[in-house]
Amino acid sequence: YAPKRKAARGWDLNNDNVVRELDLARDPFLKHRWRADPILAKDNGGTESQAHRVIANPSNPEDAVGACVDASLSDCESAISAAKDWQDATAQQRAIALRQAADLFEANAGELLALLARESGKCTLDAVAELREAVDFLRYYADRGEELSGQAPRGIITCISPWNFPLAIFTGQIAAALAAGNAVLAKPAESTPLVAAAAVRLVHAAGVPREVLQFLPGDGLITGQALTSSPRIAGVCFTGSTATAKIINRAMAENLSPSAPLIAETGGINAGIVDSTALPEQAIRDALASAFQSAGQRCSALRILYIQEDVADVLLDMLHGAMDELDIGDPWSLATDIGPVISPEAQASIQAYIQTAKREGRLLKQLAVPSSGHFVGPAVIEVTGIKDLAAEIFGPVLHVARFAAADFEEVLDNINHSGYGLTFGLHTRIDERVKEVSTAVHAGNLYVNRNQIGAVVESQPFGGEGLSGTGPKAGGPRYVQRFQSPQEAQSSC
Ligand code: NAD
Ligand code: ALA
Repeated sequence: YAPKRKAARGWDLNNDNVVRELDLARDPFLKHRWRADPILAKDNGGTESQAHRVIANPSNPEDAVGACVDASLSDCESAISAAKDWQDATAQQRAIALRQAADLFEANAGELLALLARESGKCTLDAVAELREAVDFLRYYADRGEELSGQAPRGIITCISPWNFPLAIFTGQIAAALAAGNAVLAKPAESTPLVAAAAVRLVHAAGVPREVLQFLPGDGLITGQALTSSPRIAGVCFTGSTATAKIINRAMAENLSPSAPLIAETGGINAGIVDSTALPEQAIRDALASAFQSAGQRCSALRILYIQEDVADVLLDMLHGAMDELDIGDPWSLATDIGPVISPEAQASIQAYIQTAKREGRLLKQLAVPSSGHFVGPAVIEVTGIKDLAAEIFGPVLHVARFAAADFEEVLDNINHSGYGLTFGLHTRIDERVKEVSTAVHAGNLYVNRNQIGAVVESQPFGGEGLSGTGPKAGGPRYVQRFQSPQEAQSSC
């Protein structure tokens, strides 16, 4: 099996005009250097004298994309003291500002796409999808906030986001909290503060007051901890690893009011099943995208693919052939399918995991990568089942396991026993099987005969159960409501 066209073109970028426009929009930002300083309601003595961190391009560490000054503990204190909820604006006025922010994101697409490529190593396809998702969140939550008009906000909400969706998830969290009328303290991930700072500048330009939205870049253990353990915080919206969610949960239990919610979207060890009735080309195309797009750095990514044993050899041959068509390299280039992983530490730990599998004779295939930059070659590792996966490997590593037709139910049981429940993919042409799996599998998002990544706001609300998240689902109808107080707003008489 060898696709006739390059995978990236097959995935999206078919239209030459779109491609040319994207190039023209991004090119002025090829050498630009950005800043991410704390953006506080009240200036806290200036940041010029404070030490800054250089943010380097993961595909080319020589490329300094910008510099970040981390928020100090006194910045956090001052932000908490100055924070003011957005109740003086009506739900309609808030919605108008959020829609204006969406328009500004679109108008500044070139800069945001360039930042996504250079700061977080996103290929064009992923960067475009991420920008679109951020815009969708702004508009969708604006609409939901308007519908909830009349309910009170909770107060100060801390929003903590991961580096793998540094624009979409960062924006989605703050948009939901703002739509509900809260004050927001936004902390981006350590490695991706620049695109987040650009987003906050646009949201402010759209009319959201500075005391309502403050920006505090910094380390999880310092800034993140300070912003999740102050008794003045009314709730935390977190997306990241399950381990960090547990730490935040404990800090909140010790310090915050028992009514303060933790809205957490966390990790997953996501499974897929291909049975012998599935269409092989479709199953392989979808597995390739689910496991390796975004260099496997998606919470939704396929981590283990169960293949019915009678078709396993054929499908694995096809998978390996399709992998050979992938281009790995500079995410700025429109021909690239797979970019770098986020950091040298991530590269070393994923590569060490693959090396262990190689020593144990379980590595079926790994692609070669450029010698500089934080690249990991997509790899396929054979295992007996999900119990062999101790943790989420956040990179381009696909595990495959063979199963006998008679063991189908046992496979489902084992998947459920992992404790995670984020995405699940099924490839089959048996209708009864689709029904069976829909009720039996504990997963927030079930995808049938398609890839299992890239949930779309509103039509595919996204979120897991068990160790994968608390709900309600992001991009779904009940999300904004969680940011409002269960009590009704006081009316003056
Ligand atoms: P992470 O948990 O290391 O960090 C996430 C955020 O938490 C960062 O901003 C970090 O600074 C902050 N943080 C770390 N320690 C903290 C602490 N003690 N107190 C407060 N904040 C703290 O996760 P990551 O490496 O940035 O992201 C990858 C993880 O996120 C993966 O596990 C992935 O599955 C998960 N993820 C989940 C979803 C989802 O929607 N379910 C989406 C994207 C990523
Ligand atoms: N919402 C993202 C996806 O579905 C994480 O891939």
